[in-house]
Amino acid sequence: MAKIQETIRDLADRYGRSKESLLPILQGVYENYHALTDEAMVEVARELDISAAHVYGTATFYSFLESGKSGKYIIRLCKTITCMMHGKNLILQELEDILKVKPGQTTSDGLFTLKETNCLGQCHKGPAMLINDTPHTDLTPEKVREIINEYRIKEHMPLN
Ligand code: FES
Repeated sequence: MAKIQETIRDLADRYGRSKESLLPILQGVYENYHALTDEAMVEVARELDISAAHVYGTATFYSFLESGKSGKYIIRLCKTITCMMHGKNLILQELEDILKVKPGQTTSDGLFTLKETNCLGQCHKGPAMLINDTPHTDLTPEKVREIINEYRIKEHMPLN
């Protein structure tokens, strides 16, 4: 825990200790640990001298700062109507097959968390998904398999 305290102190030194500093600090914690645990949120509250409830409220409001552990790569597959009409369900099925997880779950190797999300603004190129902040569009099951494999190769865990 000492380490996370140090990280939070460094982030507070960088962004300040006012209420406006809260969001960049939470983002910083999330980027460093791929998670926003209760312990981390309480520590941020202590460092900024604000209530833990306020920190929880802010973290919940910004849905990308999910509490709990997430994989290194968060896949957000668009589930909105245009992508739906362009075969989003086939893409979801393929992702579930490859990753062996359902939406909301993280792969056992800790690499990927699968999520569904609302329109990503890529409707003309749907189905679309984000992996962390990188958009992937015009998806087909084959393309999804290649994309996931590229990430796995990067992490030295290629598909069999
Ligand atoms: Fe999927 Fe807009 S409907 S990106």
